[in-house]
Amino acid sequence: MSTFTRRHFLGSMGALSAASAVPGVLAAIPSASGAMAEEITGIEKEAAGFANPLRLPGSSGLYGVLPASEFREVHVVRSAIEVLPGRRTPILAYAVESGGKKFLNPALLARRGDEMRVRLINDIDQPTVIHWHGLSVDSRNDGNGLNVVPPGGRMDYAFALRDRASMYWYHPHAHGYIPQQAYHGLASLLFVEDDEEAALRKELDLALGDSEIPLVLQDREFDAQGHLRYAPTAAQSFGGWVGDRLLVNLTERPFIQAGRRIVRFRILNGCNARTYRLAFVQGGRRLEFFLAGTDGGLLAQPLRIDQTFISPGQRLDVLVDLREADPGQPVTLASLAFDPMHAEGGHDMGQASPASPAMAGMDHSQHGSAPAAASSAPMAMEGDARALMRIDLKLPSAPYERRLPTVLSSLPAATTSANSARRMQLGHNGQGNWTINGGLFDPKVAALSVRRGARETWLIENAERSMPHPMHLHGFSFRVIERLGSPALVRGLAGARGLLPQDQGVVDTVHVWPGESVRIAIDFAHPHAGDQDYVFHCHSLEHAEAGMMLRYTVKA
Ligand code: C2O
Ligand code: CU
Ligand code: CU
Repeated sequence: MSTFTRRHFLGSMGALSAASAVPGVLAAIPSASGAMAEEITGIEKEAAGFANPLRLPGSSGLYGVLPASEFREVHVVRSAIEVLPGRRTPILAYAVESGGKKFLNPALLARRGDEMRVRLINDIDQPTVIHWHGLSVDSRNDGNGLNVVPPGGRMDYAFALRDRASMYWYHPHAHGYIPQQAYHGLASLLFVEDDEEAALRKELDLALGDSEIPLVLQDREFDAQGHLRYAPTAAQSFGGWVGDRLLVNLTERPFIQAGRRIVRFRILNGCNARTYRLAFVQGGRRLEFFLAGTDGGLLAQPLRIDQTFISPGQRLDVLVDLREADPGQPVTLASLAFDPMHAEGGHDMGQASPASPAMAGMDHSQHGSAPAAASSAPMAMEGDARALMRIDLKLPSAPYERRLPTVLSSLPAATTSANSARRMQLGHNGQGNWTINGGLFDPKVAALSVRRGARETWLIENAERSMPHPMHLHGFSFRVIERLGSPALVRGLAGARGLLPQDQGVVDTVHVWPGESVRIAIDFAHPHAGDQDYVFHCHSLEHAEAGMMLRYTVKA
């Protein structure tokens, strides 16, 4: 249905510059209830055909749930799983054996204060390293790629889990291999619990894999054999690789059954480059739900919303009260239509020239000519209205009368320092590379240093003619203080100081839209002695690979 995209729109806009076209584009996205209802009806029609049971974390196997204290070794291996029904897809995976059981990409469980002790053994033919996304650990244990594990090599991690309870994740971080390895399967979850988190689970009677469901959103492209295809052209590297199939927990076109009760979804955007505009829909309209937490744990209070963006690297903790839904029809988790703002067309990318083929049209639809594996699913461009998962409602096995608590955590309000902001300017060099403050990543050089214990304000400024960049900081989580210059679509969802619901929480990744300036507050306090080096980068993995990353030092 709604295949409205900026690409089509620019086609009809002729020579108007993108800058002046933006407000028009956004206004034209279906917002009137009629158009929105039509968009949602199309999404629900699509979801009606979903017939694959969602892969859920079990007690072993892919995404098996494993207490972090119950294993000491993780192997990086080549393996194969069935993603598309009836086909074997070769993947890369984290393999663990524990208690006589085998796990692939285990979902790890730990408690705040626990020690993580694990040896990584690299059984593949490429360098790799595990990065614990969102955790505040010392430079070596961060696995930020400044040191990597060669083929056949090993590395011992040992660190304390000091961070707030949340759903973190782990993935590879060897520069030069990050996008390929993550795309081919290396990624999974790490749940950290504390007292507040345990209280919420008790209060709402939540059980992981049943009423509390992790959702790993990924997009992939398959060839005719069902093998993953990853072969970005220069243009696709510049735009970010977007697969045409939408997977949830490595399940295509999935459904689940859920009781009419409060259900918790813990959502990771594990795509290389795709952003989603998430909503729960039913009967042609959006359902309201609660944002309970973000990258770095629970919000102070649940926020009632009816949609939110999630960009690569980010997590959302969401509570849906399915008692509010019509019991007579399914609910669908959807990505609503939006303008992905990829500034296609070259004319608006500044110094476009024959030397910068990447700028001559970043059209994700121009993927290879390899025949796609048989599927009834149409290709999914970024920003297309699409169903992600159907939720069939069933009666709860026991009466459920729990209420959402009004307070979720003791998260303090964000404070900002009086010091002037450090500016982080996002742009590109006209040669197909994205830049931070005009520079490209050099792993050997710390582009900036901060003092341990300093409280800094950073102003991340994205160019007007740019793409959205999900900017991720290693070593420290942070708070979002203010958004300025947001595009209309974003402004429409924002409250005071231009902030989005997600900005109320602790985050490690912030999505910065074209033309936006986002002010963030970072407290560089940590217990690690000596200088520590980390990175700050775009979590569109192809962007990071092409230079949009910088190394920084925390001076002891
Ligand atoms: Cu999730 Cu530097 O990464
Ligand atoms: Cu990270
Ligand atoms: Cu980027």
